[in-house]
Amino acid sequence: MNINIVTLFPEIFSALNAGLLGQAIKREDININLIDLRIFALNEYGQVDSKPYGGGEGMVLMAQPLEEAIKSIPSSPVCHVVNLSPQGQQLTHSKAKELSKYTDLTIIAGRYEGIDERIINQFVDEEISIGDFVLSGGEFAALTLIDAFSRFIPGVIGNQKSVESDTFGSGLLKGPTFTRPEKFNDENVPEVLLSGNHAKIEEWRETQSLLRTLERRPELLNNIKLTKKQIKLLEDIVSKRIL
Ligand SMILES: C[S@@+](CC[C@H](N)C(=O)[O-])C[C@H]1O[C@@H](n2cnc3c(N)ncnc32)[C@H](O)[C@@H]1O
Repeated sequence: MNINIVTLFPEIFSALNAGLLGQAIKREDININLIDLRIFALNEYGQVDSKPYGGGEGMVLMAQPLEEAIKSIPSSPVCHVVNLSPQGQQLTHSKAKELSKYTDLTIIAGRYEGIDERIINQFVDEEISIGDFVLSGGEFAALTLIDAFSRFIPGVIGNQKSVESDTFGSGLLKGPTFTRPEKFNDENVPEVLLSGNHAKIEEWRETQSLLRTLERRPELLNNIKLTKKQIKLLEDIVSKRIL
């Protein structure tokens, strides 16, 4: 996958060199192409922003340097272009999965008051938000977005099964996890996990996943088709909680 990032702060993306993503970049499963918007500045002062027409707060990234930056990308005519914005469609598990299917993706990281609307109208395929809050720039949103969708690119996470068993993989939250030692500050690991009985452990995990989802994100249960077994486990959970 080729990921092009239009940014005023390419140095922020050195964070991509760490961990599993860094390894995927080294293997060239993912290619990162950083496009420094400043190179396309209008003048020798490096100007890429200007005051908003009609007055108002802050500065806006200008259309001309952005257009040139986007057009400088070799795959530009066929590339899917995402503008990061708090006004965009909120990033979800399924959106991340969808984005992982593109072979060429361009991400625009805005700054200041954002980018000239005409760039959105003329070049952007979709706008994505990472949540209902405002960041000072799109770079950290881009890092979040890239991390989220890269997990779905085959080979990036060594064990693809762990992506499926993670939270949202099956539409539910994942239950609690434990590792050594068996006893930590007087708290023991649930006995069933030490039993070696795989069927029982699986049932415990499924129950914990349902319980956690019911307690923390009950609305998720409406979005998935539960199996007969899951319905039975949920009924058990609910009846025990009422008693
Ligand atoms: C200060 S924000 C601009 C906010 C804009 N003036 C508004 O009111 O909607 C500057 C840049 O940060 C990025 N940004 C801020 N919040 C974001 C969010 N929740 N999701 C994605 N990108 C965000 C975008 O790239 C945006 O262009």
